[in-house]
Amino acid sequence: MKILVTGGLGYIGSHTVVELSNNGFECVVVDNLMNSDSSVLDRIQKLSADPIHFMKRDLLDKHQVAEVFELFHFDAVIHFAGLKSPAESVVNPLRYFEENLGTTINLLNEMQRNNVKKLVFSSSATVYGDLTEPPVYEKALTSILNPYGRTKLMIEEILQDLSKSDPEWSIAILRFFNPIGAHSSGTIGERPNGVPNNLMPYITQVASGRRQFLNIYGDDYPTPDGTGVRDFIHVMDLAHGHLKALNYLSNHSGNHIFNLGTGKGYSVLDLVRTFEEVNGVKIPYKIVDRRPGDIAVSYAAPSKAERELGWKAERGLNEMCEDAWRWEKDLVKPSKSF
Ligand code: UFG
Repeated sequence: MKILVTGGLGYIGSHTVVELSNNGFECVVVDNLMNSDSSVLDRIQKLSADPIHFMKRDLLDKHQVAEVFELFHFDAVIHFAGLKSPAESVVNPLRYFEENLGTTINLLNEMQRNNVKKLVFSSSATVYGDLTEPPVYEKALTSILNPYGRTKLMIEEILQDLSKSDPEWSIAILRFFNPIGAHSSGTIGERPNGVPNNLMPYITQVASGRRQFLNIYGDDYPTPDGTGVRDFIHVMDLAHGHLKALNYLSNHSGNHIFNLGTGKGYSVLDLVRTFEEVNGVKIPYKIVDRRPGDIAVSYAAPSKAERELGWKAERGLNEMCEDAWRWEKDLVKPSKSF
């Protein structure tokens, strides 16, 4: 099967391409390199069974999207490409609407024109907002905390309308919880531009001495230790979930939503302490004010994915911390810097 992976050089995309290639899927990666680096291509190539095709193209340009579909005939598309910072989306909402919605519409039009009607879309647990007590099931009410979340929910709604309009579409919407960790080789991982927004890349940068200390946003949440609780999931488990979703689409039409999470919540301090223990490094931290827009607790009810996709997260917090640190250490080695 030939799969188009948009945003395939990004954090989750790159791990998914490796997983797909090593399980017999042929991958064509399209990425505009806005939030990724071309050197990731060599790295995923080394980890993959078969050659990975790459096209540097911008999905906002209809002609560039058409060109991709002229060159290859795809069996399915996995759509990762998009902007992903909740904080940035509050400052610049129009950019988020243009990028995330514009690229998706161009992609869907071209898929329809070429009769490619199998899609796995990267959504996010952010669509649940703050209405529901965890564990959160797929049928929970949605609510929006920022424009980034709105783009994810709007795309989900567009996909619902599309599959209602044409029953030939098979769509899996995957709502990711908090992906962390890296490939166990230490050669690919998360590499945010500038100061990391997310917790794990910040922790690894403190561990390597690139930053002095971690700011922990609030210790007065109604949680066992007062810090926020999240469903951290190993990025390779998430990658495997995409493979399962593709298999599912081969014999299920319509629109299907799945949570991809472990079903377990760990606090910010749990993660810091586990990282310190398994890696033998100290993470100095300061407790500061809560970060606006953060919720206290989020974790998935992942039973639907287990039941229908036959997927379950396998890797625990220790492995997530070890792999994240192995990747950061690889990044800071002078011979391997980008
Ligand atoms: N945190 C800190 N210090 C930091 C960064 C984060 O204490 O420097 C805390 C946050 O306050 C929160 C927890 O760590 O309690 C996790 O924060 P992240 O920024 O890593 O992740 P979020 O849960 O805020 O958001 C992430 C993605 C979103 C996605 C959401 C889905 O960034 O895109 O998960 O659940 F929508």
